[in-house]
Parts: sequence; structure tokens; C-alpha cells
Amino acid sequence: MLSNQAADPGKRKSLHGHWSSRMAFILAVTGSAVGLGNIWKFPYVAGQNGGGAFVLVYLACVAIIGLPVMMSEILLGRRGRRNPIATMGLLGAEEGKSENWKVVGAMGVMAGVLILSFYAVIGGWTLAYVFKSASGAFTGASAAEIAAISNRFTGSWMSLGLYHTIFMGLSIFVVARGVERGLEQAVRFMVPALLFLMIVLLAYSINSGYFGQGLEFMFSPDWSKLTWDTVLAAMGQAFFTLSIGMGAVMAYGAYLPEETSISGSSAAVAIADTSIATLAGLVIFPLVFANGLNPGEGPGLVFATLPMAFGQMTGGVIFGTLFFVLLTFAAWTSAISLMEPAVAWIVERFNHTRAQAAMLIGGLIWAAGFGTVLSFNVLADFKFWRGTIFDNLDHLSINIMLPLGGLLIVVFAGWVMCRNSSADELGGAGTIYRLWRVLARFVAPIGILFVFLKAVGLLPDLS
Ligand code: TRP
Repeated sequence: MLSNQAADPGKRKSLHGHWSSRMAFILAVTGSAVGLGNIWKFPYVAGQNGGGAFVLVYLACVAIIGLPVMMSEILLGRRGRRNPIATMGLLGAEEGKSENWKVVGAMGVMAGVLILSFYAVIGGWTLAYVFKSASGAFTGASAAEIAAISNRFTGSWMSLGLYHTIFMGLSIFVVARGVERGLEQAVRFMVPALLFLMIVLLAYSINSGYFGQGLEFMFSPDWSKLTWDTVLAAMGQAFFTLSIGMGAVMAYGAYLPEETSISGSSAAVAIADTSIATLAGLVIFPLVFANGLNPGEGPGLVFATLPMAFGQMTGGVIFGTLFFVLLTFAAWTSAISLMEPAVAWIVERFNHTRAQAAMLIGGLIWAAGFGTVLSFNVLADFKFWRGTIFDNLDHLSINIMLPLGGLLIVVFAGWVMCRNSSADELGGAGTIYRLWRVLARFVAPIGILFVFLKAVGLLPDLS
């Protein structure tokens, strides 16, 4: 049949083309990883979970669970060279096990759809703030005035829905064109520029007089605040921020040239991603304390703090506008990767064009997004299980589906796949390979399982 089903994995080709270089791949995965998770989500979940202890658990999760899962995802993707559902099925059969491993791919596709349904709403919120900054709405505004702007915006399902619609339109557009064109250029400019602006903001934060308090909040752990639910949230955040556990990185790995080092690329992405999240925390918490805000206030936290900083600094209109433009770009390059597995699946399975597939999947996600849009206004009091519709989607997809997907992926790469196959993809059985294998076979799966069981109270307390 198709050449992408060749018996020799080294000879397979992806139907969707390949990245033009190693750098292009790193940029694409970085574009996927760096997004709202770093700048919008990380500070507010850290704030809700009491700071320091959460941050340290999160960093540990990135290093000992996140990295091996990311490497596993890329290696599976490159070996299968198809969409995550087909890749898992193909590799399961090829390793002499079951084709049913495709269920892992299917769960990932679903997680991507669920995540993007709320991610796009926050992406739209960011986009709306581009125009608010540019119009000078934040200039000289007090904390209360900025809160009022934010509440007026999210309080109207029409404004939130409108920007959600625009953001989804942008995402569908790029996915329809194919990931190679456009995306590489955007990321090449965006990540360095975002880093630069974060440093400008950091300088402002350091001068706020509350930098020490911010540092302390982020890095001095109060272990008494740490519950297993908090640890689960830290683990979920590690998966979310690295874009792992749902096949996004697997899909990108399918377009990776044969000779590229998987471990090197993964480490580069993890370092870039973690640095940006840490910087975001160092910028935001001093501003929270300087303005008497509550670090645990939730999803509106960045939208309450950063406009304050921009409203007070010289050139704030320009810096603020530029910042929200960059954040919108960062969210955009992430949104694309959330859609890619589903779109690649539709294209391969049903022979649709990319444009048709992107519109189909994008349309579905757009409609589902109104669940989140309404959670901020009309249905704000409609609560069950974890809270609003948004809270539930967030918890289910990020804290449950991603770690579960990651667990199955790492178990597949570490236990189901034979040594020769994984060593073949990871560049031979050297030290890095052995380290990966210990993490993938033991540390990551046991860690994920343990946190899950603890969080649902299935393991007894020994202390
Ligand atoms: N990592 C992105 C962020 O931090 C979000 C994201 C993009 C994602 N693709 C993903 C999360 C795949 C989980 C899985 O904003």
C-alpha cells in the first residue's frame, strides 16, 4: 500500500511532509509548548496552590516525568510516521502486541479537542487585550479599574464568544495550510521576542519593591500547603506546559527527519519552556503583592496584573500591545498542535483534504468552546463536581487525561516496545538511552500512578 506503511520503519514517510531541518522541528515543538500554559496558567495555578511547594513539585515533574514522556512520544511518532491513532495501532501490531493500543491515540485526540475548546477562549481573551492595550485603556488605570475592564469583557458572552471565534478562525487557517508554511516563521520570531519582553517586564517587577516577596512566594516551600490534589495539579501542569500526553508531540515527531537527535531536541524544548514559565512567575507575583491582589484569584490573574504594569510604565501602550500580540502568537502556535492529531487522523482515515479536516474539527471545537464562554457569565453559577463547565473541562483534560495518556505512552515505549526498536530511534544504547529507559520503565510510570492513586485517596497515608 502506501509508502508510509513500509515494513522498515526507517523507510517510512509521512503523508503530510517533513520538517525542513532539526531547527524547524525544535521551533515547532517549542511553539507548541510555549503558550498560555506558561504565562496565563502557570502563575494562577501556582497561586491557587500556595506557591513554592507547588512550583518545586512542578519542576521535578518536568525533569523526571515530562522529559522521558516527551522523548517517548517523539520516538513513537517518528517510528510510526502517521497520526497518533494509526501510529499506536501500527506499532502495537508491529511489536507483536495488540493493535488496540490505538485507543491511546484516540484518547489523545479527544483530549486535544477538549483542551482547545477552552484554550481558544483564553486565546481570544488575549487577542482582545491587544486592542485594549493599543487603545490606551490601561494607561494610568487603578487595580479596580482594570478589574472592571476584565469583568465587563468576560461578563459578556458575546464579546468573549466573538474573540473565541476569531481565534479559532486563525487556528483553522494555519492548520489548513499545513504546519510547515507559516508556523516556522512565526515561531522563529516569536519566542525570542517574547523572551525579550518578559525581561523588560522583569526589570519593572524588580523595581516594584515587592520582588523579594514574589521570589519568596515562588520558591520558599510551605510543605504544609501541599496536598495530593496539589501534587496532581503540579503534574498536570507539567504535562500541559510541555504539550505531552495527548499525541501532539507524537504527531510532530511523525514529520521529523531520520537523523535528528530526539533527546537533544526534547531537552532544548523543556529548558525554553520552563524558563519562560519561571520568568512569568517572577514577573507576576511581585505585581500581585505590589497591588494588593490575591495570588489565588484564578484564571483572571495575568489579565489583572500585567495591564497594571503596562499602564504605569513609560511606553506601556507599545510594550503592552506588543506583549499581547506575542502572547496571542504563542497561544496560536500551541492551538495548532492541539488540532494536528485530530486533523491528521481525519486526513489519513477518511481521505479528506487538510482544509476540510481543519474546518470539521475546528468547527466542532468552536462549538464546544461555548461551554467555556458561558462559564464566565451566563452559566457562572452552574456548578458541579469541580466547579463550572470550564473548571471541569480543565481538570478532566489536564489533570486526568494528559497524565493517563502519558502513562500509557511511556509504558508502551518502555515495556511494550522491544529494546532494539527504541534504541534504534534514540540513537543507540548509550548512557542517555539507559537513563531514558530507567525513567520510562520505572520512575515515570510509578510516579504518575502513585500521584493518581494518592489524589483519589486509594493509597493509605503512612505519615
Ligand atoms: N503547551 C501549551 C501551553 O503551554 C498548550 C498545548 C499545546 C498543549 N499543545 C498541547 C497541552 C498538547 C497539552 C497537549 O500553552
